[in-house]
Amino acid sequence: MDRTAVVKVGAAASASVCALFGGVVLAQYIVAKKKRAGKKTRIIEMMPQFEKTTVHMRDPERVEQIICGLIKGGASKLQIITDFDMTLSKFAVNGKRCPTCHNIIDNCKLVTEECRQKLLQLKNKYYPIEIDPNLTMEEKYPFMVEWYFKSHTLLVEQRIEKDKLPEVVRESDAALREGFEQFFDRLQQHNVPVFIFSAGLGDVLEEIIRQAGVYHPNVKVVSNFMDFDDNGVLKGFKGELIHVYNKHDGALRNTEYFKQLKEYCNIILMGDSLGDLSMADGAPNVENILKIGFLNDKVEERLDKYLDSYDIVLVKDETLEVPNAILQKVL
Ligand code: TMP
Ligand code: MG
Repeated sequence: MDRTAVVKVGAAASASVCALFGGVVLAQYIVAKKKRAGKKTRIIEMMPQFEKTTVHMRDPERVEQIICGLIKGGASKLQIITDFDMTLSKFAVNGKRCPTCHNIIDNCKLVTEECRQKLLQLKNKYYPIEIDPNLTMEEKYPFMVEWYFKSHTLLVEQRIEKDKLPEVVRESDAALREGFEQFFDRLQQHNVPVFIFSAGLGDVLEEIIRQAGVYHPNVKVVSNFMDFDDNGVLKGFKGELIHVYNKHDGALRNTEYFKQLKEYCNIILMGDSLGDLSMADGAPNVENILKIGFLNDKVEERLDKYLDSYDIVLVKDETLEVPNAILQKVL
């Protein structure tokens, strides 16, 4: 190579280094300028719902990445796996507790006063165990089995009639979280499968969402369903018991459902208990999973653990505003 060629190559090289350097400086300048101008560059910053004081995240960057994955996949890859009691339904209204599916029956006119008292005693004994921050899920497990066994035995003794359930639900204080219509309707419009996985009472749950007008064809309910005799009187419960801390086993029993949805590899999981985290255990090929946890009770004691396990923790938030905002971006 002669001297002029060497000079030319040198000049070209230094020009590209300059261009590269210039590019980097320009990019840094744009980012800095956007920041100065208060321009939002992240999806979660663009959703005002994330600014609510109820929203807690240990790792917002991770949440951002997952949501970007969900947006990229769109409707055709998305499925919802959600708990029911205290997740889709409200925990409290104006400081007054709302009923679980079980509580709707406990407090209805089909149950005698004596039975109601016994059910209340069971709740007073076992609910504190369910939410005890100092016990592991393994330690709580046998107590939950005991609670369900005793409570379901009492209900069977009451000879509850199937025909009366719609009226019982209509007269109850059952309440779904604010924004539930938008949540269910949008999911139906986009044909997103919704798996409601509940340790509550399936018949009551179905009646609640039917009466609320959101039991759309894309919704599947897996729960404890009552077994009635030929006269429509409660005689027991169908299938294996689902309690708060065996959702892993229930999920694996539903692998057929998840197999049919194997293309739906993006999941939004919603729950209010640490037991709800295993609800997606039967789903194969998971690409992105966003876990949203509602922390309703014993907040200070449990927040740390919830932040370790759920990507987004909604503290005492009686709405579906955050899930709805995410769905609006994804769908
Ligand atoms: P979930 O899986 O839909 O949240 O439903 C389970 C809830 O039901 C759980 O929080 C415990 C509650 N429960 C009662 O309120 N009363 C009962 O008698 C029993 C057995 C459970
Ligand atoms: Mg629940």
